[in-house]
Amino acid sequence: MATHAPRGHEKVETSNFLMIVLILLTVAVGGLVEIVPLFFQRSTTQPVPGLAPYSALQLAGRDVYIREGCYNCHSQMVRTFYSEVLRYGPISTAGEFVYDHPFQWGSKRTGPDLHRVGGKYSDEWHRAHLHNPRDLVPESNMPAYPWLAEAPVDAQDMAPRMRALRRVGVPYGDDEIAKAAEAVKGHTELDALVAYLQVLGTARK
Ligand code: HEC
Repeated sequence: MATHAPRGHEKVETSNFLMIVLILLTVAVGGLVEIVPLFFQRSTTQPVPGLAPYSALQLAGRDVYIREGCYNCHSQMVRTFYSEVLRYGPISTAGEFVYDHPFQWGSKRTGPDLHRVGGKYSDEWHRAHLHNPRDLVPESNMPAYPWLAEAPVDAQDMAPRMRALRRVGVPYGDDEIAKAAEAVKGHTELDALVAYLQVLGTARK
């Protein structure tokens, strides 16, 4: 215990109020210095060369991915570790996600990272795997999604979704939006999800 009146830094360390206020201030300044520049750097706001907005079918698949909660077990973010690059492929860069609203980086890896899964397997592999993962990977604890093969994609829903994405900067043309319903007609949610998985991470592969 201090036997004298607190001086200098001791004042901060012996006052809950000062300590909390100053910590908040330090964290806020530190955060702003790290985060604000990212909004203005080209490498984080511009698409990498070769990145195209999702087609209507791929976009429908992305919505299935979100609805089914695949992100609860799968990340889409190859981190800057040698072991990750060896296992998954090139590290993920910000410019690959500029058309993702919201992004699917995830933070839980019960299953493998999926950012570079595009082109890794055949469509048939994915269809069988989603129907029942254990048919292909006996020790898998991934759930089966057999209903996707029977559920049709809601064609009328696609144009409004694409228009909404255009508002936040995804460069869909009027023509593509007009043809969206036609593009997904007759396709199941399984077709859409596989189309989405097959394009993941391919812009920089
Ligand atoms: C409960 C956790 C869990 C959920 C939810 C889940 N997965 Fe998986 N997933 C796994 C595990 C574990 C593996 C590794 C074993 C295997 O291949 O089945 C895996 C593997 C995969 C693979 C193969 C990856 C590779 O590189 O070999 C793909 C593709 C995949 N999952 C897609 C999906 C999709 C799409 C969904 C949502 C419809 C989904 N997963 C939901 C746990 C999960």
